[in-house]
Amino acid sequence: MNTPFPPPDLTPVFSPEVVAQRVKDLGTQIATDYRSLLEPQELLLTIGILNGAFIFLADLVRAMDIPLEIDFVRLTSYQDRLESSNYVVMLKNLEKEIKNRHVLVVEDIADCGLTLSWLLDYLRQMGPKSIRLAVAFNKEERRRVELAIDYVGFNVEKDFLVGYGLDFAQSYRHLPGVHKLKASS
Ligand code: IMP
Ligand code: MG
Repeated sequence: MNTPFPPPDLTPVFSPEVVAQRVKDLGTQIATDYRSLLEPQELLLTIGILNGAFIFLADLVRAMDIPLEIDFVRLTSYQDRLESSNYVVMLKNLEKEIKNRHVLVVEDIADCGLTLSWLLDYLRQMGPKSIRLAVAFNKEERRRVELAIDYVGFNVEKDFLVGYGLDFAQSYRHLPGVHKLKASS
């Protein structure tokens, strides 16, 4: 017997159509903002954070009709129980130089904000011309550090979400819409 898919423990939050339209509009808005910032021959550098951002980044850049390049980093963060702090480890570094470049960091979701704030500090040390941050989903309520986000797809509640790049134990990333795990509410 086939197991139902998506499984019944998921509650829809944003349909695939709603997500696709919002991301398209956001891409158009970002492109408009950068058009006046980029000099002739200059390319925006978008940096996606693996694994979660790959779907958002793919849709976002296809809605941006400006010259750009794409790079990725892969980060993982650990909770240090003894010091009750998080630390971030970079599993894959950038392949492009970012000195004197306009940089747009693209992430699936801003939660506590620790991973993003670590990455932004790291990137700032390399002397980019500018850094902006785009996230598909923003859980403001969960923030533990201050984080300036330039572009937000959707502001969301603190429930655990899956789909559109977001995973639960590496599952569900490929769902085109966004769902909440029933156990998380
Ligand atoms: P933080 O902002 O440092 O807490 O880390 C954000 C990361 O936590 C994201 O990149 C996701 O990988 C993960 N995350 C946070 N909230 C969710 C969620 O609702 N669903 C799936 N992953 C999440
Ligand atoms: Mg992530």
